[in-house]
Amino acid sequence: MGPPLRFAFCAALLACVCAQPVSHPVWPPFLEVPGLACSDGRALAAALADSSVTTALLPVDFVLRDSDFSGLALPLDIRRNFTIMGSASRPVTLDLGFVGHKVRLGGGVLLTISRVALINYRSGSAAQAPGLDLLTPGEADEPVALLRLQDCVMSYRLCFPVDLTRQYFEKFTRPPEIPGHQDVRRPASLPTAASCNNRTGAPFVDRCFPLTGLYVDAAIHGADVQPDGRTTDNRYL
Ligand SMILES: *[C@@H]1O[C@H](CO)[C@@H](O)[C@H](O)[C@H]1NC(C)=O
Ligand SMILES: *[C@@H]1O[C@H](CO)[C@@H](O)[C@H](O)[C@H]1NC(C)=O
Repeated sequence: MGPPLRFAFCAALLACVCAQPVSHPVWPPFLEVPGLACSDGRALAAALADSSVTTALLPVDFVLRDSDFSGLALPLDIRRNFTIMGSASRPVTLDLGFVGHKVRLGGGVLLTISRVALINYRSGSAAQAPGLDLLTPGEADEPVALLRLQDCVMSYRLCFPVDLTRQYFEKFTRPPEIPGHQDVRRPASLPTAASCNNRTGAPFVDRCFPLTGLYVDAAIHGADVQPDGRTTDNRYL
């Protein structure tokens, strides 16, 4: 039930780099991190379900599907910190396929996504309801969980005027659990912007985009939209 794909080409990309802004025009290199290599959605779902796995390495682009979770007890209740990390030389495209409500993060759990370009992760507006369709809200009586995007690229399916996006982050207060100051830069170029490629089969991060920006450091409360249109806290930051 994904919204029309034609919006995909009006994608504003935000690279999230929680370290200092990159001054050299390349993606940060992959440092040999140990983990379980997952080359498809089924392997990633199995890794999330296996409590002995804490790091899933993604060597190639793939699309996640609902059926990748068949046979697993849902939602997967994640009680350990977990990292999903692209292990290629550029951010690996992880198409979450608008798959919904498969994973619940336990109180205080940190889910890190790194070196990944996330697409089709939110069927509604990611600006109105920051979060991933994949995640169900955390339990109300537990501490909040944390979703951390580091060295990632996020695609927004709608472009808003730059001034409006500036006001957006001023409107949201930074969660006290994550001290610091919002530092969001737009426009800011992707490392590959000068040689961007409009070809349909080109790696997502190599394509040409109408607007790109950089989250140097940004933190926000997650939210879900209810069927009646209300926005509710989803218990992760
Ligand atoms: C998860 O990582 C955070 C931050 O590094 C740490 O404070 C916390 O203790 C970890 N939690 C678990 C369950 O390992
Ligand atoms: C990509 O397509 C856009 C929109 O049609 C165009 O403005 C731009 O020049 C193209 N870039 C390249 C490198 O072909």
